[in-house]
Amino acid sequence: MTDVLIADDPLYEELYDIRREAAEMGNLVEEDMNPAMGALRDRGAVQKGFLRDLLGLERYQRHAAAQGGEGYTCLSFELCDAAFRDYDRFSSKVYARQADEGGLGVLEMDEPAHRAYRATIQPMFLKPKTLTWWRERWINDVVGALIEKLKAHDRADLNFQLCARVPVHTITRAIGMDGDDSLVFRNALLKSGAPRIPAAERRAAGESVERMLLELIAQRRAEPADDVVSGLVQAELELPDGARRPLTDREVMVNARVLMLAGGGTTWRQLGITLWALLSRRDQLEAMKADRSLVDRAIEESLRWNPTDPVFSRFVAEDAELGGVFMPKGSVLEICLGAANRDPARWDHPDDYDLHRTPKGHIGFGIGAHQCLGMNVARSEMHVALNALADAFPNLRLDPDAPAPYLTGGLEQRGVSAIPVLLT
Ligand code: HEM
Repeated sequence: MTDVLIADDPLYEELYDIRREAAEMGNLVEEDMNPAMGALRDRGAVQKGFLRDLLGLERYQRHAAAQGGEGYTCLSFELCDAAFRDYDRFSSKVYARQADEGGLGVLEMDEPAHRAYRATIQPMFLKPKTLTWWRERWINDVVGALIEKLKAHDRADLNFQLCARVPVHTITRAIGMDGDDSLVFRNALLKSGAPRIPAAERRAAGESVERMLLELIAQRRAEPADDVVSGLVQAELELPDGARRPLTDREVMVNARVLMLAGGGTTWRQLGITLWALLSRRDQLEAMKADRSLVDRAIEESLRWNPTDPVFSRFVAEDAELGGVFMPKGSVLEICLGAANRDPARWDHPDDYDLHRTPKGHIGFGIGAHQCLGMNVARSEMHVALNALADAFPNLRLDPDAPAPYLTGGLEQRGVSAIPVLLT
């Protein structure tokens, strides 16, 4: 691979700086909020108020549809798990975006339409597919090229040189686009939904995203290939009334766009969090290197300990009660899965990162009908990357002369400042 994957394109710096991204979005929080979220959970599993208000942080409303509503927050594992599964009372319509930002496909749909549309995409994202099709066609090559490039160096910032690149290049290629377009496309995609840039620029970015995807869809309709868009144009949608039809161009475009949006930043930040956890705990890194069955444990524990997206929202679709707290129809429920994943009612010493703990389901990927569609892709990317690093760099360690990494980014999208390492 000789494309932008391994080139030092300045767009990487622009797009993959955790602090800058959050500062531009207006939601940067430098402090580790886990202790405060834990203290909040211990005071009450469900509370009136948006999470940020309860934490004493400046308000940040990422969902335009939720603006002006009254807020509630749930924080215990039991009730966050229940709220995610209760899709009738707690609706995903909260994600509905402004017309010029474009729709979010399955993410913003409620049942029964959601189930019908998700069924057209899901077969390509099931675990067996991500262990074979995804790895053999894209992930192994992307990770392999990046590791080869790293071998020419004795130090690196893994957050930037590995974690950022694996997901964006995997998902762009898997969708069916040319890998060389990965960064240009991601740049336009992020701009099209960025609230702080001028509306005309945002619209232009949105149009270019749509144009690129619609061109790809037309090509794949004419001549299907072996990729996700080809799968979508050939899929049949079975509507709740039993009618069957192919997806329209627009439906394919919207869902391809949400896959690229959801699949780019999350895995970048979560892989960074996982590496940070391991590199700061040498005994656990050594244990994982010696026993590769612990690689998947390391990933799940990172998703439990510090899920990159620790809070998600829902509209309260009808007057509801949760954990003894009444919520009127039309209000917004924030599900703080970050606090839920450290609930002492479910885990011993929940604040510790410990890959030896007995595995127990976490909700780092959400749960219920909307549970992350790409979770097995993300797991596969992280699995291949961690194994490849362990194989290629037996002496991998944090660079003692560089500033120590720390958790930063938006409260809504956590990541690590940098991962400076010595490779040899
Ligand atoms: C470590 C990485 C990731 C994390 C932590 C993560 C987390 C999540 C969470 C918590 C949700 C549920 C949102 C909700 O209930 O409102 C979700 C949904 C979703 N994710 Fe991920 N995600 C990751 C990677 C990916 C990847 C790689 C893809 C695509 C390739 C992806 C595609 C999606 C889609 C399409 C949905 C919406 C599913 C639906 O509404 O039915 N995600 N993700």
